[in-house]
Amino acid sequence: MKRPLASAALVWVLSLLAACASVPLPDREGVVLYRKKCGACHRPYAPQEIRAAGWEKTFGEMRNRARLTPAEIDEIRRYLEPDLAPSHGSAPPAS
Ligand code: HEC
Repeated sequence: MKRPLASAALVWVLSLLAACASVPLPDREGVVLYRKKCGACHRPYAPQEIRAAGWEKTFGEMRNRARLTPAEIDEIRRYLEPDLAPSHGSAPPAS
């Protein structure tokens, strides 16, 4: 009897694939620029994967690395900031 083993293996492979899939990027204005500028060194993280605490510091560094112009900084902020992961609880990040 080989079939039960084969389907167990299939389930295992599928669950591995699911675990590796990253959170999809929201498809809205800014996504093209974001992928291009912020996906060059690492995959472009979905905003929900980026914690709001520490974001200003991280973005300060990353926008230098990506050599963003002021207009690009604005566009990427508008793209990411509505969906940053809350640091704890569900309170909106202070702004
Ligand atoms: C020149 C390469 C490069 C570019 C371009 C770049 N990054 Fe990064 N990024 C890195 C490296 C290297 C790390 C991991 C090491 C670190 O945290 O310093 C990182 C880490 C991060 C992290 C995780 C930081 C943490 O503390 O968990 C975030 C979020 C991030 N980048 C966002 C961005 C965004 C947004 C942009 C576009 C504005 C961007 N990155 C462009 C190199 C880059």
